[in-house]
Amino acid sequence: MSILVTGGLGYIGSHTVVELIQAGFSVHIVDDLSNTEEGVLDRILQITGTKPGFTRLDLKSESDLERLFEGHVFEGVIHFAASKSVGESATDPLLYYQNNILGLVNLIACMKKHGVPNIVFSSSCTVYGQPDVLPVTEQTPIKPAESPYGNTKKIGEDILRDSSRAYEGIHSIALRYFNPIGAHSSALIGEKPKGVPNNLMPYLMQVATGVREKLSVFGDDYDTPDGTAVRDYIHVVDLAKAHVIAVQRQLNKKQKTAYEYFNLGSGSGYSVLEIIQSFEKINGVKVNHEITARRAGDIEKIYADNTYATEELGWTAQLSLDDMMSSAWNWQLKLKD
Ligand code: WQD
Repeated sequence: MSILVTGGLGYIGSHTVVELIQAGFSVHIVDDLSNTEEGVLDRILQITGTKPGFTRLDLKSESDLERLFEGHVFEGVIHFAASKSVGESATDPLLYYQNNILGLVNLIACMKKHGVPNIVFSSSCTVYGQPDVLPVTEQTPIKPAESPYGNTKKIGEDILRDSSRAYEGIHSIALRYFNPIGAHSSALIGEKPKGVPNNLMPYLMQVATGVREKLSVFGDDYDTPDGTAVRDYIHVVDLAKAHVIAVQRQLNKKQKTAYEYFNLGSGSGYSVLEIIQSFEKINGVKVNHEITARRAGDIEKIYADNTYATEELGWTAQLSLDDMMSSAWNWQLKLKD
């Protein structure tokens, strides 16, 4: 069984490739290397003993994608390749609509032409915006996107839903991630953003290593226990395992409708200050931080009700917040080596 993983050298992609290989799948990765490096392939080899196939390509190139599909037989696709910075998407929306939407359209067109039946799509809880009722279930209303990035996830789901309903052979599963953090226990793969990190954990850890001077806590005037914003953090390895389960669901023809979607969260919400305190406690390091103004576009609090994923996929998050904090730090310390 050969699975195509787009963006497979990225943070979540590489963790998923490791789990796919260890579950017995053959994997071919495509990646444009815009936010990662080819050396991740060797790390995957070190962890699994298998080096997946790799083709450097941009999904916006129909001809490159066509050449790939002509040369391989895939039973399914996991689609991670996308730009993912909320802030950058606001300053350069066209980059996001070209990369995230055109790339997806080209991919589905190729799947349709070559009879590849299954796709698992990397979506996000950002499609819910600020929910009126918590915890979030799959029935929670989708809201107008707060950012072009979030809109590309919403539109991506619409494209998959319409394509799966119209084209007999296409089955799709969208996985709505909450906040993925942590790293593989080997500390050989992890999150390695280029430039100034947008997300909390990579920035926090660069402060802990002294690369950056201070972490800004974006607002402490939210309606939460300590005033800082609450998110549902989930270990990237738990998230990766959910993708393997979704692929197996498709290959075993267990999907109940042509388009399905699932929330993937731990079910617990933690505030920014709680994350800082947990990181400091488990790793014995101080994180220099100060309260600053809210970040535009941030929501106040969100966390998942993951009952549906548990009942339908037989998946629950196994790894604890402490595991997330310690594995992330072990990876960061390896990065410094
Ligand atoms: C988490 C919390 C910030 C940085 C976004 C996307 C989501 C997904 C993950 C891609 C928030 C606070 C952050 C900092 C801070 N995207 N924070 N200081 O915004 O919840 O989600 O990234 O996979 O789809 O929406 O994640 O890590 O940026 O922020 O106080 O320097 O940390 O305000 O409360 P976010 P984040």
